[in-house]
Amino acid sequence: MGNPAQERLIRKLDLERFLSQIKPHPSPDVHLEQYTTPESVAATMLHIAAYTYGDIVAKRVLDLGCGTGRLALGSAFLGAKSVLGVDVDKSAVKIAAETSASLGFKTKMNWVIGDVNAVAGEFDTVLQNPPFGVQKRGADRVFLEKALHVAKAVYSLHNHPFTDEPFVRRLRAKASLLQVEASPFIKRFVAKYGGRIDAVYAMLLPIPRMFGFHTKTRSEIIIDLYIIKKEK
Ligand SMILES: C[S@@+](CC[C@H](N)C(=O)[O-])C[C@H]1O[C@@H](n2cnc3c(N)ncnc32)[C@H](O)[C@@H]1O
Repeated sequence: MGNPAQERLIRKLDLERFLSQIKPHPSPDVHLEQYTTPESVAATMLHIAAYTYGDIVAKRVLDLGCGTGRLALGSAFLGAKSVLGVDVDKSAVKIAAETSASLGFKTKMNWVIGDVNAVAGEFDTVLQNPPFGVQKRGADRVFLEKALHVAKAVYSLHNHPFTDEPFVRRLRAKASLLQVEASPFIKRFVAKYGGRIDAVYAMLLPIPRMFGFHTKTRSEIIIDLYIIKKEK
């Protein structure tokens, strides 16, 4: 499958179908919080970045903690100029690289096995679903700090600070997004590195049963998509 014409608007459903071809991590490591971003969530994030904010098409995109490459490959599918995916996990990067080769993208795609801290360069946009810091406190902050150093626009998923049933029901009924307030901590953190939060959208993230401590076959949590711009 080649790169679609950059000018053509891709429907979200088609994007979801495309993303569903990208394998999830075959043997996720709980310590690295290797949850593959579900196609519905990745498609929502990519669609907003591309068509609400104009941050994907013809842009240099970095996927930090790329896993098997859903956000990176989705960016290429939408018409990014170049894409770099970085992850510390060798087997995940191998799947991402094999998938991009088999899909035959014309977009310049690079894959690097390495720690987020080692990333250098200049990008237009970072897309990331970082570890939320459940296993290793502060893991998400390292990603956010790096993203703010290397890019002008950052799309970052974070844990919603609370869970209440009425809010979950509202998200389910809307089957989409609700705009919410930024967490004061993330707001301060972003400001410290010269960024400004443009919007925060809450959505539901379905989690299949992956690890021994998961008691249900499928559960869902609320996550927040932060849209951050770097101050000039
Ligand atoms: C929640 S998963 C998201 C995976 C992928 N972005 C996706 O959309 O499916 C977080 C990813 O961050 C990676 N990761 C965790 N710590 C890292 C670090 N210090 N440096 C680079 N990658 C890291 C994990 O290996 C994992 O693939």
